[in-house]
Amino acid sequence: MASTLEEKLPTVEFVQVESVQALASNFGASYYEVPDRYIRPEVEADTVIEKGSFELPVIDLAKLRDPKFSQAEIAKLGCACGDWGFFQLINHGVDKDLLERVKADITAFFNLPLEQKEAVAIANNGIDGFGHHFVVSNEQKLDWADMLFLTTQPVSERNLRFWPTNPPTFRDTFDEYSLMLNKVTRELLVAMSKDLGIESDVLFNLFKGQPQGMRMNYYPPCPQPEKALGLSAHTDGVGLTLLLNVNDVQGLQIRKNNMWFGVETLPGAFVVNMGNVLEIASNGKYRSIEHRAVVNTTKERISIANFQSQCYLETVGPLPEVVRGGKENYKSLRYVEYFKGYCSAKLNGRNYMESLKIN
Ligand code: OGA
Ligand code: NI
Repeated sequence: MASTLEEKLPTVEFVQVESVQALASNFGASYYEVPDRYIRPEVEADTVIEKGSFELPVIDLAKLRDPKFSQAEIAKLGCACGDWGFFQLINHGVDKDLLERVKADITAFFNLPLEQKEAVAIANNGIDGFGHHFVVSNEQKLDWADMLFLTTQPVSERNLRFWPTNPPTFRDTFDEYSLMLNKVTRELLVAMSKDLGIESDVLFNLFKGQPQGMRMNYYPPCPQPEKALGLSAHTDGVGLTLLLNVNDVQGLQIRKNNMWFGVETLPGAFVVNMGNVLEIASNGKYRSIEHRAVVNTTKERISIANFQSQCYLETVGPLPEVVRGGKENYKSLRYVEYFKGYCSAKLNGRNYMESLKIN
């Protein structure tokens, strides 16, 4: 029986395209051209600031937890959320052994033969499963990536049909990981509420039911990386994202002042970014920044984005506690309307967010 949440969410029909990993494995000594649908002229044209030449803010969760340091760390967190909309999170307390198991299991999954991965392929009208998201037309440019998306929380919303059984440890590992990341997310939301000067549980309550999903991205090596993109420029449609770089290959770039900054992930850190819902809820105090993933010629790259979403039954809009009778800078709309708009706008930079602004 369909659950209440599923009944309320609009269905999305993504066009499925061939596995990029399979496509990439066909490139040999005599065949180097990336097919036309993957060619993105903007990649060569854009200005990129290399990793190492700037500093992405680093937030220490152990300091946020420690009364001696928490006030200063909360202030730092607030600046990071408002200026970059991105930060690296260290000392998050997620067990190293768990992270190693997460990395090993997702790598083993993507290394399976295609037929086995297709056992959990995305089905009609759904978002869960292995395949491609955000392809809505046959003309659209394509990303150099394969993906596995899973709804992970609340547990009642999981559709195990899409949860791999190979490797055999996969389900248990991701169950554990999902719970841990919910806890870390909660701590961050409490600290952000304090920074915004609102009751500490307001943001957490906005994400009532703690809906959480994970997108696992597999970016194969690409023979012409300067012409293709692993993941198109986009903002995350959700509340808060925690990204785990699985295999120490870098590729995330974020946009600031019309330039792209290549992020060098600190070992063991999560890269955290504000999604659209938090930008809107904070009435623009926090920023949902455009980001994308680039690819390279020699190495595959795997990442896992953990998304904290808003409850589907609620409204997306500036929080009255933040606005305090002042001007609302964004429209308020039902989550289902918002979600429909986000999906049909494809991954098109900040265009959709800009359309929600009140000038
Ligand atoms: C995402 C995302 C970036 C990356 O999945 O939303 O932005 O580096 N991923 O994989
Ligand atoms: Ni993203």
